[in-house]
Amino acid sequence: MQLKVGLIGAGSFGYYHLSGYKKNVNCDIIAVASRSEQSAKKAAEKFEIPNVYWGDSWKQMLEEQNLDIVSICSPNYLHAPMTILALKNNCNVICEKPIAINKNELEIIENTLNETGLIYFASFNKRYMPVIPYIKKIIENKVLGDINLVRYFFGHHGPYTSWHASSEQIWFFDKKMAGGGVLLDLGVHCIDLLRYLIGEFTEVGGYNYSNNCKKIEDEDNCNVIFKFKNGALGNITVSWCSEPSEILELIGTEGTLKIDLQSITPFTYQPEKLGRNLYLKEALEANHNTNIIPQHKLIDHFVSCVVSKKQENPNFYDGKRAVEFVLESYKMKL
Ligand SMILES: NC(=O)c1ccc[n+]([C@@H]2O[C@H](COP(=O)([O-])OP(=O)(O)OC[C@H]3O[C@@H](n4cnc5c(N)ncnc54)[C@H](OP(=O)(O)O)[C@@H]3O)[C@@H](O)[C@H]2O)c1
Repeated sequence: MQLKVGLIGAGSFGYYHLSGYKKNVNCDIIAVASRSEQSAKKAAEKFEIPNVYWGDSWKQMLEEQNLDIVSICSPNYLHAPMTILALKNNCNVICEKPIAINKNELEIIENTLNETGLIYFASFNKRYMPVIPYIKKIIENKVLGDINLVRYFFGHHGPYTSWHASSEQIWFFDKKMAGGGVLLDLGVHCIDLLRYLIGEFTEVGGYNYSNNCKKIEDEDNCNVIFKFKNGALGNITVSWCSEPSEILELIGTEGTLKIDLQSITPFTYQPEKLGRNLYLKEALEANHNTNIIPQHKLIDHFVSCVVSKKQENPNFYDGKRAVEFVLESYKMKL
């Protein structure tokens, strides 16, 4: 089955989507849209895409190309309007995180999805990192006993330094276009991965932030404390002002595990006797190749769901809960 694919937002992360579709035998990328003519044409040339749109003509692309799939990789404030119009034009959608920037947008997307019954994926690629199935097995098989405390630190030097966003607009640091700061950018990844591994969160109990490193209105460093439905305590710290690092710590009744998500030898643990556990042994001995591109695995999963017309996760609800987590935290801004 050949699916007609279009992409909106031919910037840095858009290229990860495009290279993913290029490798997928079920997909033909037939259209691309970007803000500037230059970005649209550059992507079209690199990925041999026949139909090219720029300016506001992404709307025209959705109306005239009869697309099966649309990838949305534009700045955050455009995710909702682009998603809604794509769904109204009968396109299955994969949207970059955060999937929306306010509650009203979430509601309209949800209603439109319910009316159309199309497949929708939130682009939470961290679920597809090679190390994740091992962590999930360790948790599910209670190798650490009951998890009481979870800490997730995710940081780097920020967009335009560690992450080379390519649009000349410098939108990540603009409150209106980004919708928020580092929590909306990196924090949504953290809460999604924790919901996937540990379970649903119930409440956000505390939030603090600073913003004097990037000199922006929104946060560039912040902490959130919260609780999971199963009683475990959660703590997410995200930063646009740190050395690149991504560390997940699980503290259970039987032991502790520290996972460096960016390393090919990710695990350290206590007490030593845990090393004899079969699930942990398997995890320690596995190949956690960090060159694998999780986004391509996510695209393949999404495409297989479109082909089989079967909605799986990460779905709209996952995207929505991650945005809600951030909005609840922002309510605590003084
Ligand atoms: N899942 C992940 O791990 C991950 C990682 C990085 C980024 N992201 C997300 O991906 C999205 C894009 O980020 P990025 O880093 O790729 O930013 P970027 O390099 O600045 O790319 C944004 C793109 O959107 C285009 N655009 C802006 N306004 C548009 C409009 N009105 N119509 C059509 N296209 C428009 C820009 O066009 P011009 O180039 O012509 O200005 C640019 O090509 C963000 O939501 C970000 O959060 C996700």
